[in-house]
Amino acid sequence: MTGTLTTASEPSGVDPGDAVDAPPGPGWAEEVRALARRRDAVLLAHNYQLPAIQDVADHVGDSLALSRIAAASSASTIVFCGVHFMAETAKILAPDKTVLIPDARAGCSLADSITAEQLRGWKAEHPGAVVVSYVNTTAAVKAETDVCCTSSNAVEVVASIPRDREVLFLPDQFLGAHVRRELGRENMHVWAGECHVHAGINGRQLTDQAAAHPDAELFVHPECGCATSALYLAGSGAVPADRVKILSTGGMVDAARATGAKEVLVATEVGMLHQLRRAAPEIDFRAVNDRASCGYMKMITPEALLRSVREGTDEVHVDPDLAGRGQAAVQRMIEIGNPGGGE
Ligand code: 13P
Ligand code: SF4
Repeated sequence: MTGTLTTASEPSGVDPGDAVDAPPGPGWAEEVRALARRRDAVLLAHNYQLPAIQDVADHVGDSLALSRIAAASSASTIVFCGVHFMAETAKILAPDKTVLIPDARAGCSLADSITAEQLRGWKAEHPGAVVVSYVNTTAAVKAETDVCCTSSNAVEVVASIPRDREVLFLPDQFLGAHVRRELGRENMHVWAGECHVHAGINGRQLTDQAAAHPDAELFVHPECGCATSALYLAGSGAVPADRVKILSTGGMVDAARATGAKEVLVATEVGMLHQLRRAAPEIDFRAVNDRASCGYMKMITPEALLRSVREGTDEVHVDPDLAGRGQAAVQRMIEIGNPGGGE
């Protein structure tokens, strides 16, 4: 059995127009930094955050890098500019720290695509299987998990599991298909969840863009609906194989610094373009789908961040029982794979 496919969704009760409000006024960034210092807080921002939020943060990175920074930080407060599961993960790794997210409504359609109850049912069908959960899951799902992974170390995490052990991989079907392909592993079952933003970046868009920009490299996030098409383009010779790269968001920044390409097509959430352009201003980066914006990520506005460091909102709590049960799985995640992506 694989999971039920979750319908694509945007944050409810939020006008997407709210998500792009202008900074509160000149000097807001200085005020955020001063208030953060006063709270002994470190400001972390995911690569999909609004440019203004990325620019004010102490660290910008992918989910693995930010988890490691949260675990190692000496600050007593972590302000997580990202989505809720990321802040929860930081709290699991650093239970004694105060963890704030500027807007606790910032959820994730992928994390919503499997519940702990569904996972318990799936495990009952495969007794003895090793459960590998993407970090984009709730704390309750992590509590039912053997080892977590992110897009930058999913292949290494599954490779670390003895080959004769059955694996349940969840919740992202496209990342799961990528891992299965990379490792040629048949005894790996993949849940049929997806992220509504990445699922919306499809093979047709990628193929059309690749044809219109024949010299461009392709940077493709493995959560994308077009990841299989990217490999097809490489395999069929339509795009030289060495120009097609399946990468985490942090891996994209590292690849941008290393590539000699003049033009790169980027298949992921559009917030990514900001860090890529900062890393390699001479390269022309183009979104494969320029409407691929995550409304949850964009709920972290300058106003919300200012309120967060001023008032200590929204504090993230994880049930201590769930945190204790999920801790080992998250700890294994940050121990596997190379540093990168913002560290
Ligand atoms: P990364 O782990 O590549 O940063 O991707 C995370 C993600 O999908 C957040 O939406
Ligand atoms: Fe979740 Fe997708 Fe948004 Fe990432 S881009 S936070 S996976 S909904």
